[in-house]
Amino acid sequence: MIPEEDVNRKISEVAARISHDYEGRPVHLICVLKGGVFFTCELAKRLTVPVSLDFMSVSSYGGGTESSGVVRIVKDLDEPLEGKEVLIVEDIIDSGRTLAYLIEILKQRGPKSIRLCTLLDKPERRVKKQVKVDYTCFSIPDEFVVGYGLDYDQKYRNLPYIGVVEF
Ligand code: IMP
Ligand code: MG
Repeated sequence: MIPEEDVNRKISEVAARISHDYEGRPVHLICVLKGGVFFTCELAKRLTVPVSLDFMSVSSYGGGTESSGVVRIVKDLDEPLEGKEVLIVEDIIDSGRTLAYLIEILKQRGPKSIRLCTLLDKPERRVKKQVKVDYTCFSIPDEFVVGYGLDYDQKYRNLPYIGVVEF
């Protein structure tokens, strides 16, 4: 669906926008594991503002392709968020259930701000309409995609491009 060069070019553009928006202020990136890890690294490398990183793992999917609506924290953050300018980095926003939940719990930890950055967005699939995405690399149609961190049953995360799964 999206070749490697296009993904990298777009990440550079989004990183430039973020660096501009946060100019002079440190940004605290929260990588949502595991899918967000490739995007987080590529994004972080291109930011010109001071960056700190933390990782969180939540689970909303089993082995299939449909969000269960049940989200649980598998690994929590290591650092407190008090006073920080938080940027959540996700691989994909689909129904928005994962992010709606995550934003609610992270807000309670007293960050100065919370924004959301995603590599991919499937706007047609949104159930949680209140989830506002601040930075999107690509809006895509309703197809199941893999690569650049995204998996199908834990496979294909390492593909350097975004591919469509044919069922
Ligand atoms: P949501 O809670 O429905 O927004 O689901 C978000 C999570 O579902 C993402 O972080 C992914 O892990 C997973 N997901 C949604 N769509 C896809 C896809 O097309 N390929 C791989 N994973 C997906
Ligand atoms: Mg994910």
